[in-house]
Amino acid sequence: MEKLVSSWSKNKPLPESYIFPPETRPGNLIVPTCKTIPVIDLCNAEGRNRTDIVQQILKASQEYGFFQVVNHGISENLMNESMDVFNELFEMPDEDKVILYSEDPKKSCRLLTSSLNYDREKVHQWRDNLRHPCHPLQDCIKHWPQKPIRYREVVAALSIEAKKLGLRILELVSEGLGLESGYFGDKLSEALHLFVNHYPPCPDPSLTLGITKHCDPNLLTILHQGDVHGLQIFNNEEWIGVEPLPNAFVVNIGNQLQIISNNRLKSGEHRVVTNSRVARTTAAFFIAPSEDSIIEPAISLVGEASVYRAYEYKDFLLDYLSHMGNNEVVLGRFESQSLNNGTPVNAPPIQRGPKFELSRLDHGSDYPSKPKGTLE
Ligand code: OGA
Ligand code: NI
Repeated sequence: MEKLVSSWSKNKPLPESYIFPPETRPGNLIVPTCKTIPVIDLCNAEGRNRTDIVQQILKASQEYGFFQVVNHGISENLMNESMDVFNELFEMPDEDKVILYSEDPKKSCRLLTSSLNYDREKVHQWRDNLRHPCHPLQDCIKHWPQKPIRYREVVAALSIEAKKLGLRILELVSEGLGLESGYFGDKLSEALHLFVNHYPPCPDPSLTLGITKHCDPNLLTILHQGDVHGLQIFNNEEWIGVEPLPNAFVVNIGNQLQIISNNRLKSGEHRVVTNSRVARTTAAFFIAPSEDSIIEPAISLVGEASVYRAYEYKDFLLDYLSHMGNNEVVLGRFESQSLNNGTPVNAPPIQRGPKFELSRLDHGSDYPSKPKGTLE
């Protein structure tokens, strides 16, 4: 509990344990504001603008792995109410937050700080994080926070809408890729997890990160980033800031969508920087396959060669964690050509925890910081 950044950081200098090595820290880098990711207007996506919207989504998913959507059908009121509830949650006194805080990986709904790896990581990330599954709703809602009192009602409504929006976007993606309607339905998009991230004001944003560079391991992510800057994507060897737009959602392609599309689409690398002025709260919905889903490139997209082999989604998640989120290495292990499935001869097998532990792992950014000098 005393580890939560939101509990201890007010008026304190930046502790050494939050200082990243020079090659990964953001420094005083000014990210280009002239460049930004495409904004796609979903108005009439089911009508006369459909072909055009499909093309815009495909292009953005190829070039950036990221885009924003507006006129997406989720009401402004629901978006604002959810953000209010999320902010209230992190503003609650410590005695209310302590009920949610847990270091027990078996707990499906819990508040933690930095990453799943707090005790082992070299550097901590400047964020607190509430996480829980959102599907099936009737099973998981009873584990959600009881305070703020409107949490369950408002977040249930938002998660249903976020899932619907995600499926709608996946349908547009499948159309763009020439896949049959409903390709990403059922098992490939069965799971839904919510991360509520909270980044308190930071005494020195140049030295630390809210989340280190990573790709999301799931299928598709729908992010409500509120109205404070912080999210940056790594594109063509440079960082680009993602402009907070009122009532927009940021959408990004996860590793599974890159793999199923046989690299037609790319999962964009991204990170979160902090700021010294205001707290930033975001809500990320991760749409993911069920753990036993078999993932492989869609047959019609394979052409001459399948870049990736078939595997079970839970095996991807184990590798994602054991390779510290290093995107190239993780994807490399699932390539068709990779010898011994990428495992060096004599390497110890990856430790498989019980199923309940695995189910806590299936979303982005839970890896320790890499040793000095190995990033970028
Ligand atoms: C994540 C993530 C971005 C943000 O939770 O995986 O990338 O702006 N979040 O909070
Ligand atoms: Ni992410």
